Amino acid sequence: MSVSTVASDQSVCSPLSVLGRDVTVPLVTGGEVTYAALDYAASAPALQRVWDDVAAYAPYYGSVHRGAGYLSQLSTDLFENARRTVAEFLGCREDDQVVFTRSTTDSLNLLAAALPADCQVFVFETEHHASLLPWREARVTYLDAPRTPQQAVEILERALADRAPSPDARLRSREGEAPGPALVCVTGASNVTGELWPVRELAAAAHAHGARIALDAAQLAPHHPVSARDLGVDWVAFSGHKLYAPFGAGVLAGRADWLREAEPYLAGGGASRKVTRRADGGVDVEWHESAARHEAGSPNVIGAYAIASACKALTEVGFDTLVARERHLIRKVGEGLRDVPEVKVLSLFGDDAPRVGVISFVVEGWNSSHFAAALSAEYGIGVRDGLFCAHPLVRTLLGSDPQVQGECGAPEAVPGEKSLNAIRVSFGAGTPEEHVERFVRAVKELVRDGAKWSYRTEGGRCVPTD
Ligand code: ALA
Repeated sequence: MSVSTVASDQSVCSPLSVLGRDVTVPLVTGGEVTYAALDYAASAPALQRVWDDVAAYAPYYGSVHRGAGYLSQLSTDLFENARRTVAEFLGCREDDQVVFTRSTTDSLNLLAAALPADCQVFVFETEHHASLLPWREARVTYLDAPRTPQQAVEILERALADRAPSPDARLRSREGEAPGPALVCVTGASNVTGELWPVRELAAAAHAHGARIALDAAQLAPHHPVSARDLGVDWVAFSGHKLYAPFGAGVLAGRADWLREAEPYLAGGGASRKVTRRADGGVDVEWHESAARHEAGSPNVIGAYAIASACKALTEVGFDTLVARERHLIRKVGEGLRDVPEVKVLSLFGDDAPRVGVISFVVEGWNSSHFAAALSAEYGIGVRDGLFCAHPLVRTLLGSDPQVQGECGAPEAVPGEKSLNAIRVSFGAGTPEEHVERFVRAVKELVRDGAKWSYRTEGGRCVPTD
């Protein structure tokens, strides 16, 4: 495998260059091809601009909020400027906080740890596990999968209207009093179907019922503009590694009050303003009220700077341009897959629902892992197969029995039987048109001619024999 980080002429067709365009991978059938990275929904390649910015900064790297030296001062400025850039990118309100975290999962776990007492949480069962699971310590209502965006709003409105007061609030409440704090957490674009969710309408419904709303923008922010102010959401979470900035940082941005009132997410240096020993031998701590409260430990300045660099690059090129190009690629893949009767594209809201460049499907008579392995080994195409960390949603879409365990690596196809997992292709800025063309051709050839190689299961994954 040869590795080159030099961006080539892809900017001719894509307004943004990503790394890895010249990486070649071996094929089981002989020879090498350039790698077609079509798994952006898991981790997008780094933007060339992000890489260049990080490389230019690296010699100046220093501790943040700690050192007296010049490079520490410079790194602190860079980190705090990154916060401002992200706030602007996300259309934050004047008094919103931007907290740097490790990822979307980390951001939503932080928000879960900051919920006020008695908070009731509402999430659709269709959410990615990052927004489905962090609330289990709270009172959670899991909402059924909607089949239209309008139905999503209706389901949420009904659930919020039926909201029961918490046991504590019931003791305190007079008739008609609000039944305590509530939070709705919803994705902006599904990591399985790529479909766009009616965020603005859900936010309006949440607020009309006295609830707040957090937006999981992990799959939305890399593809569409996200403005907390315009969408009316209280928090936005996303990950750098899906936003072309894979340096280990994520973001939680939004209302400061719940974050300020919560215990620090991590206890330690950086989060504390003053620590004193008490006469009784214990320790008293004054915590910061700013974002630093939840950023204990040395901040990931390179990760934050990389995210800010990506935000600037995307903004400079403009989402109008990016969205237009991505729509063209989505159309190409959609039309290509429609030509193959054995392919079923997964969708909650219908095949023509607006989506980002994320498309999951199954192929009749094929185990999805076998299919994905053949795409990789015989065509040099990287996709993802499985349940995509959204098990309830994929099982709903496949109509599979949740009690039956999918053998993700099983290479044997059982014609006529339902797939227990799916294949996902995803792309975005910097994806060359040739990659999606190769993908469509590969799907057609595999369905028509079958795999050219044999495959076996190893460690739960499907791999080529020998
Ligand atoms: N959330 C990422 C995905 O859907 C990991 O693949």
